[in-house]
Amino acid sequence: MFRFGVDYYPEHWPRERWEMDARLMQEAGVNTVRLAEFAWSYLEPRPDHFDFEWLDRALEILYAHGIQAILGTPTASPPPWVMAMYPDAYRVLASGQRQTYGNRREYCPTHPGYRERSRIITQAMAEHYANHPAVIGWQIDNEFGDRCYCPICRANFQAWLQEKYGSLDAVNAAWGTIFWSHVYTEWSQIPVPLETGGVPNPGLALDYDRFMSDAYVRFQREQVDILRRTCPNHFITHNFMGFHYDRINYFDLARDLDFVAWDNYPRLAWRRVMDVPPASRAIEHDTMRGLKGKNFWVMEEQSGSGGWQTVGMTPRPGEIRLWTYQAIAHGADAILYFRWRTNRFGTEQYWHGVLDHDGRPRRRYREIQGIGAELQRIGDQLVGAESRPQVAIVLCYDTRFAFQIQPNHPDFSYPGLLASYYNALHRRNVGVDIVSPTADLSRYKAVIAPALYVLGQEAADNLQRYVENGGILLTTARTGVKDETNAVVNMPLPGLLAEVCGVEVDEYDTLPTEVSVPLELTLPNDTTAGEVAHARLWCDVLIPTTAEIVARYRDQYYAGRAAITLNRFGRGQALYVGTVGDAVLHETLIDWLVQAAGVPSALTTPDGVEAVERWKDEQRLLFLLNHANDTRDVILPTSMIDLLTDRTVEGRVTLEPKAVMILRGA
Ligand code: GLA
Ligand code: ZN
Repeated sequence: MFRFGVDYYPEHWPRERWEMDARLMQEAGVNTVRLAEFAWSYLEPRPDHFDFEWLDRALEILYAHGIQAILGTPTASPPPWVMAMYPDAYRVLASGQRQTYGNRREYCPTHPGYRERSRIITQAMAEHYANHPAVIGWQIDNEFGDRCYCPICRANFQAWLQEKYGSLDAVNAAWGTIFWSHVYTEWSQIPVPLETGGVPNPGLALDYDRFMSDAYVRFQREQVDILRRTCPNHFITHNFMGFHYDRINYFDLARDLDFVAWDNYPRLAWRRVMDVPPASRAIEHDTMRGLKGKNFWVMEEQSGSGGWQTVGMTPRPGEIRLWTYQAIAHGADAILYFRWRTNRFGTEQYWHGVLDHDGRPRRRYREIQGIGAELQRIGDQLVGAESRPQVAIVLCYDTRFAFQIQPNHPDFSYPGLLASYYNALHRRNVGVDIVSPTADLSRYKAVIAPALYVLGQEAADNLQRYVENGGILLTTARTGVKDETNAVVNMPLPGLLAEVCGVEVDEYDTLPTEVSVPLELTLPNDTTAGEVAHARLWCDVLIPTTAEIVARYRDQYYAGRAAITLNRFGRGQALYVGTVGDAVLHETLIDWLVQAAGVPSALTTPDGVEAVERWKDEQRLLFLLNHANDTRDVILPTSMIDLLTDRTVEGRVTLEPKAVMILRGA
């Protein structure tokens, strides 16, 4: 069954309304809701006094309308009594300021008292709902994140370091604490990187970010353990925040879960763009699928204008449907809209849901009702379909954290660089997996690992083996610069990948953002067609050892010297791009890469039309999504059947603005 539904807060509305809500949901094809992830105050009004009566009643009404539920453990927003019990459980910001009560997520993730209260409410809910026919699974907490720098975290950081390094000598050596006489002689001397401490030691700062990420993984695991023990028949997930979220190692956070869920808001109040770039959503979905190499859920899909104090653009007609099918095209096995009804009170008064404040169904409800009817018909043909990309992009959270600590160039963005290569592939309708540096790469024809700045031996061996065995690797400047302690390597760059790339960085330069250096490309199959590719921000001046030069700088004192090289290594090839390029360069390199690797495009489409493939058993499904505001024509190479209309289509087909087609072979 395709899980289709909404995030529902019955506790915000009078009980007399619940029946009507359930009926309207049922009429919209809803079969699943998420409940209770912010209801701690109602579930445990006083310490150890639980009240499940209201939730039982809500579940009973929903179930009578054919609707089942995921329950959220409510630990993302503590009731005042929890925080009154533990005044030192308030999170401390990097500035050193302690948070106060009033929003949500005020808690410190390592506070033992907070963790205990979280286990108690989780255990109580788990016991009460373990065998409830309406309950199918759990969401733990809500959108984990936010670093804490409190004294309790400091003590836990010291213990974490002790576990990791064993001795202070090892810590001092790893971080190079001899610099500025930071040699620690007691564990308790080790600080946390508060802003009041100034620019921190990079080794300490990276370990702190890893520790904090790990703190959430461990906090989550305590709840996972309780739920696994008490509710063995339920699934467990968490709602992640997509590719753009950068404070937790999401590969680690996903490990203990059955599958990943995430929250997709294409139009945010603070992102005032007329048109949502399709690739900006696609990379989020692909990253969420990549965390476990598995289909995912959208636990919150935008269904109205987003906003807290201000109101964002409302989804244009057809957009909710387009975003829904785009999520499905990229691997979503379930879609829940946030939120059922726009709230009349609280911080999120202006975060609009399916229904407006007055509870009346209008345009957005009708659009969702239409999608619900479609998915009731064709959902079974989509659930569990596989994505089978032949290209991977490597995402490394250690690298991401390390660039937060030292961006290298004020305008360099690591996720921006990944996205730039991703966008070029997306424009060609080439499917992409986003994978960790140690993932099994053997199934990919090409791997792009931009700026793998913190590079350990295991990841380096993985990439080397991949190329040796015939893979094509694209890597860039700022690769292999740091070892895992965040110290600069004691070898020519790109460090552990210098041999695979057959190149050494002789020296490097950075450029002001407004300045770029034209490149002379000599790549086989150069597709720039008269346009000049440019180096930006960072310029490695390269000396090939075994590689051939495929681009040279045309300006600066290094004019004529190598900027990009290509090396044959084992049965494969490694392209080293010694700069952060512009779009022309990235487009050209991706043209070369897909040709050299023989990676097919799902379909050639006009700008604005996204084509995505999935496989249901051996049946290929082709999704066509017109993100443009006008009609676009697409040419189909063979005759196909449109699942949504049951009609056979062939040759030239016209897609209306925001239209969706899901095609399978005739
Ligand atoms: C997030 C949260 C929700 C809600 C929405 C809208 O995704 O998970 O609880 O706050 O944003 O702000
Ligand atoms: Zn803390």
